[in-house]
Amino acid sequence: MADAATCDATDCVIELRKLWTVFGPQVVHRDISLCVKRGEILSLVGGSGSGKSTMLRQMLGLESPTRGDVLVFGHSLITGDPAELRRLRNRWGVLFQEGALYSALSVFENVATPLRELKALDEGLIRDLVILKLEMVGIEARHAEKMPSALSGGMIKRIGLARALALEPELLFLDEPTAGLDPDRSESFVTLIAEIRRELGLTVVMVTHDLDTLVSLSDRVAVLADQQIVAIGSVQQIASATHQFIANFFQGERGKRALEAIKDIGAAGGTPEGVETPAPVTNITAAQGH
Ligand SMILES: Nc1ncnc2c1ncn2[C@@H]1O[C@H](COP(=O)(O)OP(=O)(O)OP(=O)(O)O)[C@@H](O)[C@H]1O
Ligand SMILES: [Mg+2]
Repeated sequence: MADAATCDATDCVIELRKLWTVFGPQVVHRDISLCVKRGEILSLVGGSGSGKSTMLRQMLGLESPTRGDVLVFGHSLITGDPAELRRLRNRWGVLFQEGALYSALSVFENVATPLRELKALDEGLIRDLVILKLEMVGIEARHAEKMPSALSGGMIKRIGLARALALEPELLFLDEPTAGLDPDRSESFVTLIAEIRRELGLTVVMVTHDLDTLVSLSDRVAVLADQQIVAIGSVQQIASATHQFIANFFQGERGKRALEAIKDIGAAGGTPEGVETPAPVTNITAAQGH
């Protein structure tokens, strides 16, 4: 299992080493090893309670595993110096599922917050950077003084993304980026993420339940079930694995449609939109006994 999920450590932007998470009698992660490779979009999927959000928080240094190590950019978040962790935080951005924006702050102030907190920049430069980031996500400067309550769900996600990109991160975390968006807005947000990832050469870790988002964006998918990563590989490879969670996940109408779309893309010799050079697939490992 570990061989499938790990790779040459020099390639890994994030590395989980023999990670265990235990809450009282409940084992959530059992000896998980994983490498997130530079430049890839890795999606985490799994049933409710399988430990996706916990793993994301561990990668952000917000929570420590019971055992094992979490390395980001080669630095341990567990045994490393807290000052180093603060510096590392400037190298990643996060779009949280809930509370994408501070409701009491304007659009401008939301995007300016990380710049004010972490860099000694003058107001003129902050202004220019905020407008630049808003343009990058397709939000016109005239919206900058609006409050979040006056915005649509799609705009809030875009501005949340602008804020996540404020410090020009190399690594981006997306927690359910398209949850709550209607299909059109969801599709245009997926396209935006693909474009930005390509422009900035980002490494992305995403948690999503949404099949269309998963298929459009993922270079690799890691499936969390039975306290482990039971499969890791391209969407095509994952979809053909035999684990029960995977079968259920892809069995519904949306799953079938998403898989048909991949087949069509394969027949046309292309790759999903926004994924120009999918990371080479390592291999796939199905859980024993399923
Ligand atoms: N601080 C905690 N104390 C005790 N149990 C916890 C704690 N954090 C998480 N858990 C438990 O760990 C398990 C994994 O939780 P987690 O939130 O990571 O799941 P998830 O895969 O993100 O689920 P969902 O898809 O519903 O968001 C759950 O059973 C949850 O109740
Ligand atoms: Mg969760």
